Amino acid sequence: MDHLTIGIIGAGYIGREHARCLRLLKPLFDGRVNVAAIADQNPEAAQQAAAMFEIDMATTDTNAVLDHPEINVIFSCLPTKFHLQTVRRAVENGKAVFLEKPFAVSLEDAQEIHRLLTTSHTPHQVGFVLRYAPVYHALKKKMDEARSHSPLRTVILRDDQVFPIKGISHFTDWRSRVDLAGAGVLIEHGIHDLDLFEWLFGSAKRVSARMGNHAGYPGIEDYMEVRFEFADGVAANMIHLWHDIPAHQSIRHFEIFYQQALLTLETYDMHHLTVRDEEAEKTYERPDLFRMVAHDPLFKDLASREDVLFVSDYYAIQDYWFLRNLLGGHSLFPTIGEGLRAFTLAHACYESAKQDGAWMPV
Ligand SMILES: NC(=O)c1ccc[n+]([C@@H]2O[C@H](COP(=O)([O-])OP(=O)(O)OC[C@H]3O[C@@H](n4cnc5c(N)ncnc54)[C@H](O)[C@@H]3O)[C@@H](O)[C@H]2O)c1
Repeated sequence: MDHLTIGIIGAGYIGREHARCLRLLKPLFDGRVNVAAIADQNPEAAQQAAAMFEIDMATTDTNAVLDHPEINVIFSCLPTKFHLQTVRRAVENGKAVFLEKPFAVSLEDAQEIHRLLTTSHTPHQVGFVLRYAPVYHALKKKMDEARSHSPLRTVILRDDQVFPIKGISHFTDWRSRVDLAGAGVLIEHGIHDLDLFEWLFGSAKRVSARMGNHAGYPGIEDYMEVRFEFADGVAANMIHLWHDIPAHQSIRHFEIFYQQALLTLETYDMHHLTVRDEEAEKTYERPDLFRMVAHDPLFKDLASREDVLFVSDYYAIQDYWFLRNLLGGHSLFPTIGEGLRAFTLAHACYESAKQDGAWMPV
């Protein structure tokens, strides 16, 4: 594609986040990228985003954007239930798609989106943004070092978040409605971790899960514990929790145990990676982590942009690669195949939780 003329469907939290990133990145693409329109059923949301991020057209009519003859790229940013209709129309109109996770409220819808995108060969990318977070690439390097001299024993992840109808970034109520969200904390937030686990540690063989619902919204679990068994037999545990502690907003706490090294990470950002091994304990902070990844192919183009890479603006890094690979005709990643894999893992966890933690092959 020579030029990208972008329409954003949804001017809520994530639609605005992409609008911010795209405006930040626009100067890097010599006039070949422009956000032409943003649509939202809430006219004020669309108008405010258009004014804030210099977007020409704000509308309440999503189809006016999806059918717009000059727009050739769609960012799908409505509540989860609506990604299917957005993708269907974008594909019918021959537009490339950036698709936010978790992208469907049921396995059937997820499979249909997969079918639509793959049979039409639509260029697309799924919003598993943590794949672009520099800190996880630094973590991978430390994992490689640890693995070179001692085997992986186990992994523990606690992923917690203020119930996202009250959190700092999330204050709309659709995440408490099963018809719009599909389910609760695992599908809405933990799906990032299901993708991350296989990306970091390899394929899962089977999963077992239990869930709880403290807040009481029907079908919206706010607690999910998952046992993972990888193909090599290593077992891992995840806990996903939505809580009511505004002073503690949202954290991924990782412990990765090798026989002779423990790696811990308690951040989304470029700090606090701690390695303990037979020699010492060392905590890597922002400058150390920056040095570890700045020359990687994924980050070197942005290494001079301290406002992007140094602060670990991983949404901007993710969008940079979407634009760059689309313009260059290169492969986009993660694909809907990887998206469907994470969705399938989540589905198996829900099936297991319904059967009191029975193991499910995946
Ligand atoms: N990748 C990530 O890290 C990430 C982060 C947040 C959200 N998300 C995903 O992005 C999607 C949107 O989440 P959000 O946080 O932006 O939600 P949000 O509630 O902040 O925004 C949704 C917007 O959609 C509008 N809307 C709702 N129904 C509509 C309809 N039928 N037609 C037109 N507009 C409609 C609302 O007015 C609102 O402005 C969800 O699938 C969510 O899971 C991904």
